[in-house]
Amino acid sequence: MGAPAFTGFPALAAHPWAYPALEVVHIVGIALLVGNLVLLELRVWGAAAEVPVRALARLALVLALAGFGIVAASGLAMFSAQPADLLTNRAFVIKMGLVMLAGLNAALFHARDGLGKLDRVARVQTALSLGLWVMVIICGRWIAYR
Ligand code: HEM
Repeated sequence: MGAPAFTGFPALAAHPWAYPALEVVHIVGIALLVGNLVLLELRVWGAAAEVPVRALARLALVLALAGFGIVAASGLAMFSAQPADLLTNRAFVIKMGLVMLAGLNAALFHARDGLGKLDRVARVQTALSLGLWVMVIICGRWIAYR
């Protein structure tokens, strides 16, 4: 797939480095999102038990949400460059489904106060979260090969 024939933002077409730059921003967002979720999920599994989970969550969740914002903004800008191609790209469509599942899992985790309970369900949900985000990354990379 490589650099797409731009149909979206004229600015993206005008600067050949714009799309690769968006991919770099996308990867930085992924690192912030997934890196901080892994930190918090390890704490839910009992790592660094001396660290208060709420205090850690206040920092890690803010950074993870900032990462998601960066990923979503750069992803939508890249999407705007080739909407028709991406909507028929199975890797992209599966990826968007997985992003929604990961979001739903996170919402259910916090709705039942998983950070307060730190029980078996909370550990299962954090393991599921990690699995889903890794699959999103795999699909994201696969987009260019479909
Ligand atoms: C939330 C909305 C998102 C949208 C609209 C979106 C959209 C895109 C698009 C259009 C591409 C470029 C495909 C290409 O031209 O090769 C891409 C690449 C990628 N995305 Fe996303 N994405 C989103 C979220 C995510 C998330 C949450 C992750 C991981 C946690 C992710 C991981 C990746 C990866 C690994 C790539 C390949 C980057 C590269 O090879 O340079 N994306 N995404």
